[in-house]
Amino acid sequence: MTKTIRSLAVLAVAVCLTGAMCLAESSGQATYKTKCAMCHGATGTPSAAMTKAMGIKSASDPAIMKLTSAEMSSAVKNGKGKMKPIAGLTNQQITDVVAFYRSLK
Ligand code: HEC
Repeated sequence: MTKTIRSLAVLAVAVCLTGAMCLAESSGQATYKTKCAMCHGATGTPSAAMTKAMGIKSASDPAIMKLTSAEMSSAVKNGKGKMKPIAGLTNQQITDVVAFYRSLK
């Protein structure tokens, strides 16, 4: 358990070193892991089962990449199709998680 936490911390630092938006990126990533990854997949590509059952597209899909940040935030806040509104996020967390989702390609 502590080992996992330590490697996650190391990962966060590595992201910080490479990413210009260090803080936003790491908090967005943490939110993504707990609130989005179970449907959208850890890397933004949903599992085949999820794609089939819910019609989720990969983050690199052209239809997703042409969405604006505002449209994505609205999908998180208000839900869209089979995606229910994601509860318990502040506006800042939504901004961060959308930025992180958009960085997945
Ligand atoms: C319960 C499963 C589930 C969770 C959890 C979930 N999503 Fe989704 N998401 C979906 C589905 C299903 C769609 C496809 C909606 C549609 O177009 O019918 C979707 C679509 C989207 C879209 C594209 C919206 C569009 O206009 O097509 C974005 C962006 C998105 N999700 C972001 C997120 C983010 C960010 C989170 C975490 C805060 C999240 N989702 C959590 C199931 C989920």
